[in-house]
Amino acid sequence: MKALVLAGGSGTRLRPFSYSMPKQLIPIVNTPVLEYVLRNILDLGVTEIGVVVGDRAHEIRQALGDGSRFGACRLTYLQQDAPLGLAHTVTIARDFLGDDDFVMYLGDNMLPEGITGIAEEFAAHRPAAHVVVHKVPDPRAFGVAELGPGGEVLGLVEKPEQPRSDLALIGVYFFTAAIHEAVRAIEPSSRGELEITDAIQWLVASGADVRAGQYEGYWKDTGDVEDVLECNRHILESLRPAMDGEVDEASVLTGPVVVEAGAHIVRSRIEGPVVIGAGTVVADSHIGPHTSIGRDCAVTGSRLEYSIALDGASVTGVQGLRSSVIGRSARVGTVGQSTDRYRLVVGDHTRVEVAA
Ligand code: DAU
Repeated sequence: MKALVLAGGSGTRLRPFSYSMPKQLIPIVNTPVLEYVLRNILDLGVTEIGVVVGDRAHEIRQALGDGSRFGACRLTYLQQDAPLGLAHTVTIARDFLGDDDFVMYLGDNMLPEGITGIAEEFAAHRPAAHVVVHKVPDPRAFGVAELGPGGEVLGLVEKPEQPRSDLALIGVYFFTAAIHEAVRAIEPSSRGELEITDAIQWLVASGADVRAGQYEGYWKDTGDVEDVLECNRHILESLRPAMDGEVDEASVLTGPVVVEAGAHIVRSRIEGPVVIGAGTVVADSHIGPHTSIGRDCAVTGSRLEYSIALDGASVTGVQGLRSSVIGRSARVGTVGQSTDRYRLVVGDHTRVEVAA
């Protein structure tokens, strides 16, 4: 069994962050999504992992290296020249995959409970394709599956306007080599992509055994900012406290809090679950709950909850920040003494919301 991790694509829904970093490297509790993905794959005992990269290949390589940091595994980077679709990635990975079974894992999908149960379901029947579905209130943004009573897939449609079920396809798929003929057979969809959903539907239509398992655990496609915040909140819920930095006597910590090495908390209240990244200084502030502060940040005289600050960000004198994501080395502050004026230096596709 091999693995194919998809870390290319364009990430338009995660702008402006995806302008400066691949969306798969967005941190959830200070750890890139892609690291959670790799760890879940390694938990299966799969060590040969192909990583599909696009125009941000350099940053992905820098973040993952040869993979040795994660344990015994070998990463093979596979360059995709344009984001032509999930099924297209299987065609460029053909030589790497050979005729082996493989798990295809979308690099922006979070399944914190792991995928060993799914792998066991695949191994039990070894169908041509084994997909995973999850009940969602509105499945129109996903691939949608219709299942028979025994879990067999009757039909699949990518992002249907009128879904025939509430079962969204999760971004983890198990395949035998049968998928290669399917990806060669399909045509680009109306959005111009070779859809893996269409390739699997092709298998269904040609009578191949295609099964689905229903996944009851927590799942999030970290495709947009709200999803990233919600996922961060969820992962923080199981935070194990750790104190490697320094906290002065005037500060109060409640709930689970991680203070990484070299971080300083001064005259502040930290209301867990919260993680404060290495080298960060928090002074005269109230942080949390459900907040992650990256490395080398500075938070002074501010109130921040249910938020994420990426590495190098600074927040000074701002009360009442909520549901906010502050980009790398971004500065958020106040202007003069005025309460009715704002000064904004805001990049493309940025979002600012102020009190009415
Ligand atoms: O998250 C689950 C959904 O993922 C499924 O329900 C859909 O059926 C499936 O098509 C996919 O939909 P998305 O529109 O969310 O896919 P996205 O474009 O975000 O791409 C998923 C991952 O694959 C992401 O990490 C980027 C990467 N990718 C994407 C494309 C189109 C590539 O590496 N190459 C590509 O050409």
